[in-house]
Amino acid sequence: MKKARTQKLNTLIVGLQWGDEGKGKIVDFLVKEADAVVRYAGGSNAGHTIIVNSQKFVLHLVPSGILHKSKICIIGNGVVVDPIELVQEIEALKRNNVYVSENLAISDMAHVVLPYHKLLDALRENAKGDKKIGTTRRGIGPAYGDKAERVGIRICDLMDPDRFTQKLKERLQEVNSLVQSFGGVPITADEIVEPYVKAAKYLQPYVRNTVVLLHELWRKNKRILFEGAQGTFLDIDHGTYPYVTSSNTTVGGVFTGTGLPPKALHRVIGVMKAYTTRVGEGPFPTENREISDLLHSLGREFGSTTGRPRRCGWFDAVLARHAVAVNGVNELAVTNLDGLDTLERIKVCVGYKYEGQILRFVPSDTEVFKKCEPIYKEFAGWKCGISGARSWKELPINTRRYLRGLEELLEAPISIVSVGPERHQTILL
Ligand code: GDP
Ligand code: IMO
Ligand code: MG
Repeated sequence: MKKARTQKLNTLIVGLQWGDEGKGKIVDFLVKEADAVVRYAGGSNAGHTIIVNSQKFVLHLVPSGILHKSKICIIGNGVVVDPIELVQEIEALKRNNVYVSENLAISDMAHVVLPYHKLLDALRENAKGDKKIGTTRRGIGPAYGDKAERVGIRICDLMDPDRFTQKLKERLQEVNSLVQSFGGVPITADEIVEPYVKAAKYLQPYVRNTVVLLHELWRKNKRILFEGAQGTFLDIDHGTYPYVTSSNTTVGGVFTGTGLPPKALHRVIGVMKAYTTRVGEGPFPTENREISDLLHSLGREFGSTTGRPRRCGWFDAVLARHAVAVNGVNELAVTNLDGLDTLERIKVCVGYKYEGQILRFVPSDTEVFKKCEPIYKEFAGWKCGISGARSWKELPINTRRYLRGLEELLEAPISIVSVGPERHQTILL
């Protein structure tokens, strides 16, 4: 008789804020309990940092399980893949003696990011002036746009040079008229074909039907980690539209982006910083100049993909609570707790003031959200370094009070606390 699929093994790691919550670190920490890691959305706009023995890895497309040789790493069908960047990423990993071979799989259904996606991303952003989104300029919006418009080119097309060239030429007709309407220089097929066909040859051994692969793993009761990219408030549906990315970064994206059904997901871990950051434009009620300056002066909170300084502010419990609800979060992972080490008092947003009313939820209208003012609850700081703590008991009493306060506000238990960027600076509760 077939073994029943009763084990509760598969876990989603999802960001509860505006990205950069420390998902990469948490995936790397939890991967020892898993057999496979799969990315389901986003593209090389993501930057997931893992630091092991002072060696830093920033992953953009390759799942964060790759540092563990025996884990299968899958780039799911919901990801948009820039083949040139992916080749560079694999090469950089290999140069650092990371094993990348049959342990990596790339979906043949994933859509390809092409140079014109990046060009259009930049041209649109420039044309928007002070209304820009502040994208990573990695071509994400135009690539997902093509997918939705049904004019995208997929990895399976890229693997066939003739088919790829033909589709590319067809697509360039419309693309170039758009490029010219923005005053940009048209792109020729010739300048794309050679490097892309070369990248296709390089990537070919990794390309496969990842839906079938994932179902095989699931059937065998292998443990799968779903690695979220971006964060809940960058989700195209649930984020602060239009200041969002172009994919479903939240739990729904897991199923469309991998081909596994909801019953294959057993646990959702929401990752959040002990404060809030955002890179790019858009509303951010708890943004605070002093916290930004403090963290930047420590060399922290610069974007992993673009190097831009991240905007920083107090923890927003209204926002995170909403993210807990949307994703069905079972457990919380709090990262960067040590970022608050020097503060006398720590504020947490528990509501918003809007035109004389008090709101306890995140308004769906971004124009309303822009005008919301935070209502704060204060916690006493701990005023000492906590990066050496390795257990709950080793955390100062005020740190524990802060964490208990967050649990109460979010109505979810904290199971992981991160007190430094290194793999070992992590406390499992
Ligand atoms: P991701 O996109 O969610 O994977 O997050 P990023 O890697 O873009 O950004 C998180 C940043 O915080 C990285 O620089 C991490 O090395 C760093 N980090 C993660 N957890 C901690 C922590 O607990 N303390 C400190 N000091 N840094 C952390
Ligand atoms: P990880 O996975 C933080 C932001 C951009 C911009 C908006 C749209 O590392 O958490 P896009 O290039 O996607 O069209 O940009 O989304 N953004 C991120 N911010 N972390 C990320 O990924 C991000 N990916 C996109 O800054 O505001
Ligand atoms: Mg990041």
